[in-house]
Amino acid sequence: MSTFPKPPEPNFIQVLNWVFRPMPYMVECARKYGDLFALKLQSNLPPLLFVHSPEAMQQVLSNDQKELEAPGEINSIFEYLLGKNSVITISGKAHQRQRQLMMPSFHGERMRNYAELIENITTKNINKQPKSKSFNVRNVAQEITLQVMMEAVFGIYEGERAEKLEHLLFEILEQGSTPWRVIFLYFPKLKKMFGISEIWNRQMKKQEEADKLIYQEIEERRANFDPHRTDILNLLMSARDEDGQAMTDQELRDELITLLVAGHETTATAISWALYWIHKLPEVREKLLAELDSLGDNFDCNTIFKLPYLTAVCNETLRIYPVGMLTFPRRVKSPISVAGYQLEPGTIVMGSIYLAHRREDIYPEPEKFKPERFLERQFSPYEFLPFGGGARRCLGLAFAQFEMKLVLAKIVKTWSMKLVNTQEIKPQRRGLVTGPNAPINLLIENVRSPKSSHIITTEKTVV
Ligand code: HEM
Repeated sequence: MSTFPKPPEPNFIQVLNWVFRPMPYMVECARKYGDLFALKLQSNLPPLLFVHSPEAMQQVLSNDQKELEAPGEINSIFEYLLGKNSVITISGKAHQRQRQLMMPSFHGERMRNYAELIENITTKNINKQPKSKSFNVRNVAQEITLQVMMEAVFGIYEGERAEKLEHLLFEILEQGSTPWRVIFLYFPKLKKMFGISEIWNRQMKKQEEADKLIYQEIEERRANFDPHRTDILNLLMSARDEDGQAMTDQELRDELITLLVAGHETTATAISWALYWIHKLPEVREKLLAELDSLGDNFDCNTIFKLPYLTAVCNETLRIYPVGMLTFPRRVKSPISVAGYQLEPGTIVMGSIYLAHRREDIYPEPEKFKPERFLERQFSPYEFLPFGGGARRCLGLAFAQFEMKLVLAKIVKTWSMKLVNTQEIKPQRRGLVTGPNAPINLLIENVRSPKSSHIITTEKTVV
C-alpha cells in the first residue's frame, strides 16, 4: 500500500489550517509535496488525496475511467441544507437520471428566455444604489443572481412568497459562510461544547421557514398544474421515471433548494470578482469598453456571449480566484496509478481547482490578472476547470457564464463606476466555497449610455 506525502502536523492542526486558510495551505502543501498530497480532515474518513496536475485531473475526473466513481454519500456534509435527495448527495443511476432531468433547463434555447430578465433585474438593482455613496458589490450581485435563479427555478421573483424566500436564503447562506460554521461541520460535537447549538437551532428554524414556503409553492402548483410553464419546477413535476413514478414533494424540495443555493452565491461571487478586476485595472476596463462599444446598437445576447475579450475576462476571473476551490470527492473503485502513486479501492481523491489554476508551467505569473492569456492559447479541460469535470461537472455552467457575461456587459456599458477600495482584496473561505476577504465597494460616477445598451435576443441558439 502506498504512503502518500502529507504534512507532519497533528490532524486537528491540519483541520484548522484547512478551515481558516485553505488556499495558502494548499499552496504550501503543493510546494512541499508536489502533484499529490494527503490531508486528514474528517475522523470518519481516510485521509483525502489532493491532486492538481492536468494528467491527474484527467484520470480522476474523466468519465471514461471506470476505476473511479463520484458517490453522493461523501457529500453528506451538505445534507443539512440540501437534503438526502439532492443531485449533489445522490449517486449512481439516480444521480445520472436526475442530471438528465435537470439539464434541459439550462440549455441554449432556454437561456435566450432569461436574457431580458437578467437585464431588467440588473438595471433594477443597480438603479436602487445611492448615487453619492459606494455600494457593496457582492450584496448587489447576490440579489441579482438570486432573483434570476428564483425566476428560472420557480418562474417567480416578485411577490410576497418570492421575497420572503429570497430574504431567508440570503440569511441562511450569510450565517453559514463563517469559518466557525465550517468547523462545526467537521466537528459536530464542538457545537455543544461551545454552546453553539442555539445559533445552529436558529439557522435550522430559518431553513424550516424556507422549506415551508417551497412546499406551499409545490402544493399550489400541483393543484393548478399549467403544462405551458417553462420553469424548472414544472419540468421536474412533469418528469416520470421508468416505473412511471413522479418525484415526491421531498425530492422536489431538495432539488429546488440545491439549484437556488448552488446557482446564486457562486455566480454572484464570480460577478463581484470580475467587477473588482475591471475597475481595479484601467487597461482591462478600456479594452472591454472598446469591445462593447464596437457593437453599436447591436447589443444582442448571442453576440455578447461570444465576445472574445469579455470571455477572456470572465475566464481569467474564474481562473485566478475560482469560486469552487475543489471538485467534489471521487472514490477509487479499482486500483489505479495517479501522479506516480498506486491508489487502492476506497481511496478518496479531490481535484484542487485552485492549485490547477496556479501552476507556473501552465499559467506564467499566476498571481497576475491577465485576460490575454486566454486569447493567446487554449487550455485543456483539465488545465482550466472552474466548473469541475466528468460525472459531476457543474450543471449550471452554461447558465452561469451566460448570466455573468450579460450582467457585466450591461453594467460596464451603462454605468461609469469607480473602485473605492485602495487595499488589495484576496480570496478567503466563505462556507464551503470562496469569496473576497473584504467588501468590494464601487461608486457610480455617471450613466454612460442608457439607450444603446439595451440587450436584444434573436432566434439563434446561444450555447
Ligand atoms: C460561476 C458560477 C459557478 C461555479 C464556479 C460553479 C462551480 C461548480 C463546481 C466546481 C462544481 C463541482 C464539479 C465537480 O465536482 O466536478 C459544481 C457542481 C454543481 N453546480 Fe455549479 N458552479 C457555478 C454556478 C452554478 C449554477 C448557476 C448552478 C445552477 C443553476 C450550479 C449548479 C451546480 C450543481 C447542481 C452541481 C452538482 C452537480 C452534480 O453533483 O452532479 N452551479 N459547480
